Amino acid sequence: MSKPPFQSGRPRGLYVRTFGCQMNEYDSLRVQRLLAPLGYVPVNDIGEADVIFLNTCSVREKAEQKVHSFLGSLRRLKKAKPHLKIIAGGCVAQQLGEKLLGRFDHLDLVIGTKGVGSIGQMLQQVQDSGGRLTCMPGEESGGPGVPEIFPGGSVTAPVTIMQGCNNYCTYCIVPYVRGSERSRTASEILDEIRRLEDSGVKEVLLLGQNVNSYGRGLDEKCTFVDLLRRIRVETGIARIRFTTSHPKDLTNELIQCFAEIDTLCKHLHLPVQAGSDRVLERMNRGYTAAGYIEKINRLRLICPEIALTSDIIVGFPGETEKDFAKTMELLEQVQFDNLFSFRYSDRPGTAAASYTDKVDPDEAALRLVQLQSYQADVTLRKNLAEVGSDRDVLVEGPSRASNGQMSGRTTHNRIVNFDAPLPSSGQILRVKITFAYSHSLKGDVIVCPNAQSG
Ligand code: 5AD
Ligand code: SF4
Repeated sequence: MSKPPFQSGRPRGLYVRTFGCQMNEYDSLRVQRLLAPLGYVPVNDIGEADVIFLNTCSVREKAEQKVHSFLGSLRRLKKAKPHLKIIAGGCVAQQLGEKLLGRFDHLDLVIGTKGVGSIGQMLQQVQDSGGRLTCMPGEESGGPGVPEIFPGGSVTAPVTIMQGCNNYCTYCIVPYVRGSERSRTASEILDEIRRLEDSGVKEVLLLGQNVNSYGRGLDEKCTFVDLLRRIRVETGIARIRFTTSHPKDLTNELIQCFAEIDTLCKHLHLPVQAGSDRVLERMNRGYTAAGYIEKINRLRLICPEIALTSDIIVGFPGETEKDFAKTMELLEQVQFDNLFSFRYSDRPGTAAASYTDKVDPDEAALRLVQLQSYQADVTLRKNLAEVGSDRDVLVEGPSRASNGQMSGRTTHNRIVNFDAPLPSSGQILRVKITFAYSHSLKGDVIVCPNAQSG
């Protein structure tokens, strides 16, 4: 019979470090929920950890380098605290598996992207045997009967609705490390949202590599639009967001949802990646710059206030000065509210890694600086245009600046900091925007439902 994971009643510290995307954030939260019934409580100080879970990302070279250097830095901690168990999950773990154990002799457990559900049992095995293990299931695995605990305290929460991707954009490692596309059933998703709601969550972020293709392959027919409508009708969640959308699959019906579903936030993240049709084709994106802009125009027609953000890769193999100029033209035309931009990096096994016409890294770096400085001006100008407006802000908690202010987000996904005389986390407050910065806004509360009359 296996021993319990801890001998005394003392809770064990679980330190989670997440690299990369929101899908990883979700998996990290799941790890906390799955280990809670086994007596593990999240700690912010790594020195208090009995278990460290490192959720790794390999989508870009830089992210992967960070993972390797963080893993290396844990060697000393493990020496000082031999009972510490170190677990690596996520995409690097999936990609390297056993090799990761070979590279880092202080690592105890490697869990592939489909193995998260088994983390409790695997940790227990490692504790019992004192050995080092890998768990790389080909199919989603789950621990029998381990109930996930949804601890309260969060105002917003991610909910993964689908995993994997079938698109094979030529630069992207995701289909290789996350596998092919599979959707969770609508009832499972709705159930999770209701449990989150019960724990105090007000806003959910629906996650998938390509949420627009949600539902393909499900026995019970449910498209992404059906799912949005069901969340609106069958749960009491105040706000819904989703990411990521693929421009080629963004349907008119989904665009229409921004007018139809009042709880759907007025923000869309729609990665365009490049503005040159030649580059888009080599990336295997399945749309042209004109097609993308047509969808943006339709979105703005249906919902004029919608905030739009995007991802861009600069220096994709074969990208000429002329191609890059087309990307800049697209940015000028669309005027995104915000942008995430990256210098192309080769990812092992992808089609683009074998392209021979690589762009000089210094040239790509220059292009990135040019693009980011242009967008910084646009973002600031858009933020300045908010000054004087009244916005509904869902309060998430104390502001990061630790200056006594509270912080929340508008429906357009802008961060607003403000003085709040009363506890207000989880409430939607009406706030007058008074100042704009490059990454946030400042405002004054004008309607506070907590305020006592008289
Ligand atoms: N190089 C640079 N950026 C990449 N991304 C994905 N793969 C690469 C790569 N090989 C970017 C894309 C994607 C975002 C999550 O990361 O812009 O939308
Ligand atoms: Fe990667 Fe393309 Fe799939 Fe996005 S749609 S995860 S960029 S392959």
